Amino acid sequence: MRKLTFFSLSFSIVFFLFFSCNCFSQSGKETIAKNGMVVSADSIATAVGLEILKKGGNAIDAAIATGFALAVTYPVAGNLGGGGFMVIRLASGETLTLDYREKAPLNAFREMYLDSLGNIEQKKILEGVTAAGVPGSVDGLITAWEKFGSLNFSELIQPAIDLAENGFILSKSTSESFNRYKSEFVKFNSTKKLFVKPEGKFKAGELFVQKDLAATLTRILLKRRDGFYGGITAELLTKQMQENGGYISKEDLKKYSTVSREPVIAFYRDYKVISMGPPSSGGIALIQALNILENKEIEQIPHNSVEYIHFVSEALKYVYADRSEYLGDPDFFPVPVAQLISKSYASQIFNLISDTARKSLEIKPGEVFPNESTETTHYSVYDKFGNAVSVTTTINSGYGAKVVVEGAGFFLNNEMDDFSAKPGVPNQFGLPGNIANQIVPEKRMLSSMTPTIILKNDKPFLILGSPGGSTIITVVLQVILNTIDFKMSLYDAMHSARFHHQWLPDEIQYEEEITISEKKEELEQKGHKIGIKRVLGLVEAILIDHNSGDIIGISDPRGFGYAGGY
Ligand code: DON
Repeated sequence: MRKLTFFSLSFSIVFFLFFSCNCFSQSGKETIAKNGMVVSADSIATAVGLEILKKGGNAIDAAIATGFALAVTYPVAGNLGGGGFMVIRLASGETLTLDYREKAPLNAFREMYLDSLGNIEQKKILEGVTAAGVPGSVDGLITAWEKFGSLNFSELIQPAIDLAENGFILSKSTSESFNRYKSEFVKFNSTKKLFVKPEGKFKAGELFVQKDLAATLTRILLKRRDGFYGGITAELLTKQMQENGGYISKEDLKKYSTVSREPVIAFYRDYKVISMGPPSSGGIALIQALNILENKEIEQIPHNSVEYIHFVSEALKYVYADRSEYLGDPDFFPVPVAQLISKSYASQIFNLISDTARKSLEIKPGEVFPNESTETTHYSVYDKFGNAVSVTTTINSGYGAKVVVEGAGFFLNNEMDDFSAKPGVPNQFGLPGNIANQIVPEKRMLSSMTPTIILKNDKPFLILGSPGGSTIITVVLQVILNTIDFKMSLYDAMHSARFHHQWLPDEIQYEEEITISEKKEELEQKGHKIGIKRVLGLVEAILIDHNSGDIIGISDPRGFGYAGGY
């Protein structure tokens, strides 16, 4: 009975919102509202967050509810078994970030993923329990609630429990995603049981129930942290670790805690950029790139022209070179934040950029620091009080380590690959690293996640972020440049083609629409290599127009997310 009631409820929320107003739109379309907005990669999770805002909850409440819902309805990246970053700008003007990034287990060691020849064991670092860092998401969402929540915790987690217990309707994209990963899911019994159909395939429109996950979420509801980091959940997780050579212990789980950190903040032209600092490289890299680009009148250069792609790519080479050397967990390595985001350092780099491309191997990380040593998801929330929240969360690859915790129903992350497992050897995103990001027990692995809030006249103007591993930074950068320098509408800024350079490999990656073929010759003459064509980013963005009072939300046209406002 309850099943039917909830089923029709969850379905009818989405159905009602979808057909009754322009306040709930699918990826690529604008949603315009006056009071509040949630943009996420999944329609049900957006609807859950939106209901919280309508109930009078604040943006942090809505972000928490959206986060728990994503763990149920968007298991490719939404998670309990991963980590993330939340950037908050309260209506009062206070800013802060919550760092609930995964950590290396206590018994981790520097060479843990190297075989007898000293090569990285890809299977071990990417798949199964061995790949997982200590999860932070549950602690992060609970910490956010304790600090800023205004509704009861039960109101924020119950929708997720109901969606897991009673099921939700699979969308086309989610059912296809499950089917696409079948060959990887069958490797783990605990995953196969839930995410593989013995015969046939998952289909859009069918009900998908996750009883074990509902039980885990219920333990979190009843016991909060202890429902995940202790008791039955911890028992199930560590048992699976012990049986399969994993590293995470009960002690690791007990010790996990979220860290409140100052955001990295800088002015880009007249706009204030508030973003995630280390252990993410995102905010620093974004600000460093903006600082370099600020030395030129970007709006005078035709958008996505040869000159533009060349200039931005050259700047990015320096940014990613520094990332490889200087960025890591600040609790373990003295990240030279102030120098990296200083305007004077950026102008030194700007002066090195010429009309011809510099070979990446000729570019070394800067030497100005004597005193200091495929899958993620983003969601953006804005409420009627003026609070802004920008969250990026991940289990790293699609479905993380592909292994579900037996009996607990959630995927483990494979975040250990974000460490530099061997100096100079690139990880799955092609990112090399060094001492700053080497494996040390309890250290957080370096991230590229870039949840960002931009203020104009000291009021929230743009809230955005993206998945995409190493490309997150360049994708977020381009949406910002499109909006601020090229004065595009949010719609155009999100629909414009993107490109990417990350120093190594020394190539420009690009999206189809840039028609790079026409520009290829000219770019090659300048010394660039043209790399692969690929989709870049899945941005979930909100733009607030304080003149009209419009709150505009768009989920990236490249994905299947939803913007919901009221
Ligand atoms: O934290 C990071 O930078 C990566 N673990 C993010 C992975 C990611 O974005 C994959 N998604 N497409």
